[in-house]
Parts: sequence; structure tokens; C-alpha cells
Amino acid sequence: MMIDDVDLNFAERGAGRPLLLVHAFPLDHRMWRGQVEDLSEEYRVIAPDLRGFGGSGVTAGTVAMERFADDLAGLLDRLGIDEPIAMGGLSMGGYVAWQFWRRHARRVSHLILCDTRAAADSEEAARQRCELADQVEEQGAPILVPRMIPRLFSEKTRRQQTALVQAAEQVIRQGSPAGLAAALRGMAKRVDATCWLREIDVPALVLCGHEDVISPVSEMQAIADAMPRAEFVVIPGCGHLAPLEDPVHTNKAIRAFLKATW
Ligand code: MLT
Repeated sequence: MMIDDVDLNFAERGAGRPLLLVHAFPLDHRMWRGQVEDLSEEYRVIAPDLRGFGGSGVTAGTVAMERFADDLAGLLDRLGIDEPIAMGGLSMGGYVAWQFWRRHARRVSHLILCDTRAAADSEEAARQRCELADQVEEQGAPILVPRMIPRLFSEKTRRQQTALVQAAEQVIRQGSPAGLAAALRGMAKRVDATCWLREIDVPALVLCGHEDVISPVSEMQAIADAMPRAEFVVIPGCGHLAPLEDPVHTNKAIRAFLKATW
């Protein structure tokens, strides 16, 4: 579906209140496969591919988190969804969720923040990310596989769910180098959302895989503590991709949260 200058691909299932799920880097909407089918029994679940990912169109250069957030607002407009939504974001999807709340607050009734961070990159981290962006453009998406896979999944998931891990590897390999590089540069220059946390007064579920090394439990606990209406849930045995690694526990937490607050 054309949103401004880009064709956005998305999955949509179910009817009722809208639940928008925003994927992590360097994946696409398929990382929500354990949620789309199951949660569409109760909700209208929409899982887009961000600009530059999956089946969506690519913009080279730098794509800011603000741009991704505005794309999603445009998608909701095109789908005729004006009522406030529950927005879920994992990691980079969470970075987009902060911006979506900031820029389109009236559209947000609930936030589900999975394995994400509020802090910006340090200068050194931002520099390394920009270097990685150049390398991905020069050498291709597969260079991300050995770098990301051990950090995305827990050791237990890598041992016990090899097909799931291989499917993620495949998604990474097929990514657009220009799209991935643009998102890396956008993440490098994202702003620090920490000072917004106290103002975000919608009900929020903060969810974290126990073994997450990218956004560890202590950091996510601090996010939940800072938000006035947040509840914190840890998913045992999972790494950075808890919803993909353990959809049963994740969906139970999401259902309980939405049922109690919506
Ligand atoms: C992600 O999972 O989206 C990325 O690991 C986020 C990041 O690199 O900061």
C-alpha cells in the first residue's frame, strides 16, 4: 500500500480493536508470526514491514525513527483506523514506538515494549553503527548473520529451536543492504527517550527475555519503573526475541495485560 513515497507491505488479520506490531532490526513482520495468528482471535492485528525491510520499498541513505513512525501513522490513515491503537514494538520497533507516541500521542491507547531501550547510542556505539551501515552496503546483508544471531536468541533457543533460528537467518540474508544500512544510520542518530518515560501515561506492558543481552532485564526494569502505568514481565529462557522464541508465554502476558486494561 502506497504511503507517501513508499510502498509498505503488511500482514493483517482479525477484527476488533487494532494491535499494531513493529518488528526489530534486521528482521521483518514475520518475527511476529506467533502473535499475528493467535492474537487475531481477539484483535485486528497489523504487522507491517518498515520502510527498507521485508516486502516494503527501500529508501537509501538514512531513515530516522521519526520517519518510520510517520509511515505507520500514514498506514493507519490508509486503513481507516482513527481510533487509538495498542502499539507493540520490539527493540528497533520500540525505538519507533517512542517516536510514534511522541508524534501521534492521540493514536496510542496502549504500549507493549518488548526487549527495547529508551537510551540513545553512545557516541562510540553510533560511530560503530555507521561503520556497520557502510559495510552492509558494501558487502551485503549476510555479514549481519554471525554478528546478530548469537545476540538475538538465547542459548537455549539456538539449541532447541534450530528451524526457527534458521528461518531468521534466511530473513536477514535476504534483507536489502540499502534498507538495512539506512535503518542503522537512523538508529545511530535516534534521540534519547528516557526523559519522556514519566510522561507516557498510557497503560504499558514492558516485556523482556530473561537472557536478553541487547536490552537486558535490569535496563528494561528501569524503563518500567519510570513509566507511571507500566507492568513488567520477564519471559524465562528467551533472549532478545522473546515473542518469537516463546509465543505461548508472551501471548499470555499480552492477553492478560490488554484484557485488564482495555
Ligand atoms: C533490534 O533488535 O532491533 C536491534 O538489535 C536494535 C539495536 O541494534 O539497537
